[in-house]
Amino acid sequence: INYKKSDYAQYVESADYIKKKLNGKIPEAAIILGSGLGEHADRITDAIIIPYREIPNFPLSTVSYQKGELVCGYLGGKYVIAMNGRFHYYEGWEMWQTAYPVFVFKLLGIDKMIITNAAGGINESYTPGDLVRVKDHVKLSPDSPLRGMNIPEFGERFFDMQSVYDKELAAIAHKSAEKYNISLCEGVYGYMSGPQYETPAEIKMLKLLGADLVGMSTVAEIIAAAQCRIKILCISCVSNMAAGITGAAITEEEVLEAGKKIASSFASLITDIVKNI
Ligand code: 6GU
Repeated sequence: INYKKSDYAQYVESADYIKKKLNGKIPEAAIILGSGLGEHADRITDAIIIPYREIPNFPLSTVSYQKGELVCGYLGGKYVIAMNGRFHYYEGWEMWQTAYPVFVFKLLGIDKMIITNAAGGINESYTPGDLVRVKDHVKLSPDSPLRGMNIPEFGERFFDMQSVYDKELAAIAHKSAEKYNISLCEGVYGYMSGPQYETPAEIKMLKLLGADLVGMSTVAEIIAAAQCRIKILCISCVSNMAAGITGAAITEEEVLEAGKKIASSFASLITDIVKNI
């Protein structure tokens, strides 16, 4: 993507391409699938797959790390659009690029988003495999996806962050969890830009600052959603305990494994939530 953050026309061009593929259908929600949670896209029926590389102006690495495609179709009786593969700052994208799809979704008419991720557990009451609804976040890195010239079509220069984690979507999620007998607690997500996992001292710091979870994604998308008034439901899968808590080494394998283990109950939960939104 060679354009600048402030070039509104590029977002319109991306959205117009996707709109044509959707034949006038407006998705009721967008879903962003986190590490190891991508299998969920398989539950979407009558799917149209749009590889990121086909979409004009969509961030696209020449070195592709993850699967990168939009999966558009039905889930829980609702028409949805899911991102299978997301952009991370640690891959080298600018913050605004990691949030790029959110603004494209806004232009598709979407006003609700479900974001999932794999995160390290800081709160000692968590165990790997737990699902946590993110109710707020802390971000220590000063960069913002909205640094630079504002795009007024998407919202105000300065905007409130207090209601982006939507209360109604949260209530629906907790109700669905209860129905499926899945424990879903609430927590604060601490954003660290990675790619290294944290040191024990950094985790101690995040804990003091009120974080229950730590991860390297999601927050740029949340900030973009807050600006353009997309309501967010964010659910983290605790893939491992963060540094210094159990003393065990943290590996990417266990992060992906945890996602796989929880995949089927997680899929049921997300499907039921979508049905009820
Ligand atoms: Cl321990 N840290 C970060 N930053 N991201 C993670 C993680 C830990 N575990 C899964 N994702």
